[in-house]
Amino acid sequence: MQTLTIIQPDDWHLHVRTGDMLKTVINHTARQFGRAIIMPNLQPPVTNVEQAEHYQQEIMNAVEPDSEFQALMVLYLTNNTTVEDVKKAAASNSVKAFKLYPAGATTNSAQGVTDLTALFPIFEAMQTENIPLLIHGEITDETVDIFDRERLFIEQKLVLIQQNFPALRIVLEHITTQEAVEYILQAPNTLAATITPQHLLYNRNAILVGGIKPHYYCLPILKRESHRQALITAATSGNPKFFLGTDSAPHLSHLKENSCGCAGCYSAYGAIELYAEAFDNADALDKLEGFASFHGADFYQLPRNTRTIILEKRDWQVPDAYLIAENQQLTPLKAGETLHWKLK
Ligand code: NCD
Ligand code: ZN
Repeated sequence: MQTLTIIQPDDWHLHVRTGDMLKTVINHTARQFGRAIIMPNLQPPVTNVEQAEHYQQEIMNAVEPDSEFQALMVLYLTNNTTVEDVKKAAASNSVKAFKLYPAGATTNSAQGVTDLTALFPIFEAMQTENIPLLIHGEITDETVDIFDRERLFIEQKLVLIQQNFPALRIVLEHITTQEAVEYILQAPNTLAATITPQHLLYNRNAILVGGIKPHYYCLPILKRESHRQALITAATSGNPKFFLGTDSAPHLSHLKENSCGCAGCYSAYGAIELYAEAFDNADALDKLEGFASFHGADFYQLPRNTRTIILEKRDWQVPDAYLIAENQQLTPLKAGETLHWKLK
């Protein structure tokens, strides 16, 4: 049997929620990954170190006892974030980054930032304290087409942040377009990007052809095939500016299969296997370890993992759903389908 041994990967963009959902999904992640960057878009959002440490404790309590998994915390930037918040975060052991959600861009982003320039003193402090800025890069203007929102964010907002804070380390999260890839490639090494499994495996036909398929709906939305190809080329290039961030974003099945379905794909159950599938399809399995296990740790200036994981080329069937609580199901990406790589 074909096997692939790699240093244990980390997930640099993950949503785990709280309560019953957390108890299920965090162990799917902990089984594969050494660490994960935990997104702060709870309701209310995680905006200060005290809240982050409380949430971190809740997460670690939900992780199976023998696991060595580590939750790395992120604070949610709001119009009220202070320089003091930044200093406290940088001095903490728990918080590794701040997340910028433009108000209204995605799930639980109502408290997000409305005026970017008002946050410049905060970016200044982050630059001084050497703590990274993670960005959901989409314009939220109602007149801007949903498929153009990432491209225009880069042109109108990201360029501005970079010009003003050239030493600030920035991760443009879950990139979805050729324009994003090109922008990252020409930018200085202070800018990197995460790429999700769904954006490597699917184009926008997955949501729209043959009926509306809500389990492929996430934000930023899947784009056309040429963009998927650009993302595959970037992820498999070996360039350290691109690394793994699943954006696994669980929502109960009935909230996705809904007249106003939630945005987010649930991939944590088989994340490394889904990436292995995408890299294998591109004939680039030799590039998986850098993307999954080295580039992110290096960018975050954290040590690389030392344990290894083994993937086997073996067919297995993805469950139709995971039971979260009585009558509450979570539908995974590729529900009921066959995957070709399995974590041993
Ligand atoms: C995420 C979620 O559900 O929290 N949804 C998504 O479609 N990716 C939020 C986000 O990362 O945009
Ligand atoms: Zn996300």
